[in-house]
Amino acid sequence: MTDIKELLLSRIRDVADYPEPGVMFKDITPLLADPAAFTALTDALAEIAEAAGATKIVGLEARGFILGAPVAVRAGLGFIPVRKAGKLPGATLGQAYDLEYGSAEIEVHAEDLTADDRVLVIDDVLATGGTAEASLQLIRRAGAEVAGLAVLMELGFLSGRARLEPALRGAPLEALLTV
Ligand code: PRP
Ligand code: MG
Repeated sequence: MTDIKELLLSRIRDVADYPEPGVMFKDITPLLADPAAFTALTDALAEIAEAAGATKIVGLEARGFILGAPVAVRAGLGFIPVRKAGKLPGATLGQAYDLEYGSAEIEVHAEDLTADDRVLVIDDVLATGGTAEASLQLIRRAGAEVAGLAVLMELGFLSGRARLEPALRGAPLEALLTV
């Protein structure tokens, strides 16, 4: 494992039985509190954005905002928030997706993405892939191109990567860590 991967992994805390029994929660707050680790993460994601030829960064509420916004600044790109439904004041496009129990919806300001945009989506964790899949659908419906998806951590045992393959249509999925 490279030095940066070891640094990032060492700053992610496993919390057993949160938010419900049987779930091992990956807590990134120690990483955010460590400026060396947060900077290394931001730099690594900004390199991915540059390699993908991205023109915009989309961050997925909420933890994707924390990781994506500094990447946008570092890479010199605009940041577009994809929010949970009902939080954006302007004209929105919405995309529903299934959760383990029930469903959820995410939204984006329709005017924020155009046919000229190549969008890199950033989030902290890829689990089942439902959230990321909905974001890719939203970006395409807004008329923009998907440059890729980048996450800090992929939970390999949940097979989100396989689920996302059709939605990615060949765009790269970069996970800095796989656990
Ligand atoms: C978590 C995580 C990812 C998503 C991954 O977000 O931050 O966004 O779940 O799960 P999936 O791949 O199964 O869709 P969540 O909405 O739980 O919380 P947050 O608002 O703190 O980001
Ligand atoms: Mg999230």
